[in-house]
Amino acid sequence: MKILVLNGPNLNFLGIREKGIYGTEDYHALVSMLEEKARQEGHELEIYQSNYEGGIIDKIQEAYHNGTEGIIINPGAFTHYSYAVRDALGSVEIPKVEVHISNVHKREEFRHTSVTAPVCTGQVVGLGLKGYALAMDFLTGK
Ligand code: DQA
Repeated sequence: MKILVLNGPNLNFLGIREKGIYGTEDYHALVSMLEEKARQEGHELEIYQSNYEGGIIDKIQEAYHNGTEGIIINPGAFTHYSYAVRDALGSVEIPKVEVHISNVHKREEFRHTSVTAPVCTGQVVGLGLKGYALAMDFLTGK
């Protein structure tokens, strides 16, 4: 199965930013964990991170053209206000899982709203980096 993993702004700073909230594992560890899992299970995986809204949107549009069958997205702070990312996600009929490392519902009020979740198949929240693996299991039917 062809899967795209998208990470939005500041997720490249995992292991550096707010370790009490996001943990000590860095972005490279996340990428390695997902690549290894995909390899073991025989899936084709592309992992992309951008601090720019347009970069995320371009990748979602590319997924429409290149036969991607599932999208795992942690839009970072774009989750809470980016109608442009929401519209891009809403434009493609590919199964999509939104992932948040932290439990956004326990945090500041502005994090309780996701403008992107309503156009996703479902959401994994607050389970750390494991959330990405669980999202992959869902998409692959494992
Ligand atoms: C996050 C939660 C967002 O509120 C925040 O802006 C992030 C990371 C998470 O994975 O918990 O950048 O999406």
